[in-house]
Amino acid sequence: MQTGFRFQADTLQAFVEALLGYAGSEPEEARLVADHLVSANLAGHDSHGVGMLPSYIRSLSQGYLQLNQHASVVKDAGAVVTLNGNSAFGQVAAHEAIQLGIEKARQFGLAAVALNNAHHIGRIGYWAEKCAAAGFISIHFVNVVGDPMVAPFGGKDSRFGTNPLCVVFPRKDGAPLLLDYATSAIAFGKTRVAWHKGIPVADGCLIDNQGLSTNDPGVMHVPPLGALLTFAQHKGYALATLCEILGGALSGGKTTHQDTLQKSVDAIFNCMTTIILNPDMFDAPDMQHQTEAFIDWVKASPHDPAQPIQVPGEWEANNRQTRLEQGIELDESSWKAIGQAALAAGMPQAELEAFTSRKM
Ligand SMILES: NC(=O)c1ccc[n+]([C@@H]2O[C@H](COP(=O)([O-])OP(=O)(O)OC[C@H]3O[C@@H](n4cnc5c(N)ncnc54)[C@H](O)[C@@H]3O)[C@@H](O)[C@H]2O)c1
Repeated sequence: MQTGFRFQADTLQAFVEALLGYAGSEPEEARLVADHLVSANLAGHDSHGVGMLPSYIRSLSQGYLQLNQHASVVKDAGAVVTLNGNSAFGQVAAHEAIQLGIEKARQFGLAAVALNNAHHIGRIGYWAEKCAAAGFISIHFVNVVGDPMVAPFGGKDSRFGTNPLCVVFPRKDGAPLLLDYATSAIAFGKTRVAWHKGIPVADGCLIDNQGLSTNDPGVMHVPPLGALLTFAQHKGYALATLCEILGGALSGGKTTHQDTLQKSVDAIFNCMTTIILNPDMFDAPDMQHQTEAFIDWVKASPHDPAQPIQVPGEWEANNRQTRLEQGIELDESSWKAIGQAALAAGMPQAELEAFTSRKM
């Protein structure tokens, strides 16, 4: 759908940095958050891109998100380190946690880094890509604290968050293999995008407040609220449970239950436990060749030539290439909400209009 709101990535980067500067972020914080959000749009995950800004600005004004804060080490046990995110921008706290994890993995060959109490850490693939760029494999278990949106298998109301799992494997030549998804049938942000666009979601993703199957994304945005379902029925539910425990409990953070329920839908807090492995520490000289042989093998499966078989991470890599060339499209309703957030943060109307006029 062509809306006319299509921006170059660097325009959006400058816009987000300016918006956050007005909100009170130091330049480095604004740069890290902007890079993360625009990267999510470039990867094709608009649910975790600049469309998050209205929610972040509301969380800030409600006193949940804390500006210019940093992660602090709570316990350093050598290869295992636990950090408190101190309600900082997740894009800052997770950046610091992952940088430390990479340093530890360089030192020890493997590392586990647990981050609790961080504001929304966004698209988890971004953190995995940092590990892959450093040459490492990583596995990320994430929970969303006290923000129930997903029903347990067999249940009729929401009990936990969209708890993503992410795994990356760096390839010598080519984009890393990247598994990165919510354990809900679709990410919550995708219901927001569908709701803004006025389109239904696929079968098997949502139930209404009566526990009945529905395609209406509005059930996640207009009370009485329904719930997302887990992907792959009991299998997704089992994975979501382990993301909740490894992400929320093992990290020294919190799991979702009556005592931890958030009062605001904009207060999104994540905990993440990350395992980082140096592949060179394994006795596997054939590892890259075996990987490429497998990829060639699966891609050779008979298929419609118009729809090539992809490997995990390829969808994002292709989107990145296309969107760097053709720009990032935002629907009118999302851009309007982002503009209102910019004004609320203190951006003058004239500056917002100047950015809007830079659409392609
Ligand atoms: N911070 C949070 O609280 C939070 C919560 C939930 C989700 N998220 C993020 O939301 C984003 C979107 O999650 P989602 O569940 O909508 O993801 P999704 O359903 O779009 O799945 C993405 C995954 O599927 C792979 N994929 C896509 N098409 C493929 C194909 N044809 N062949 C092989 N693999 C393919 C991608 O490479 C990627 O690994 C993720 O980046 C996730 O980290 C964050």
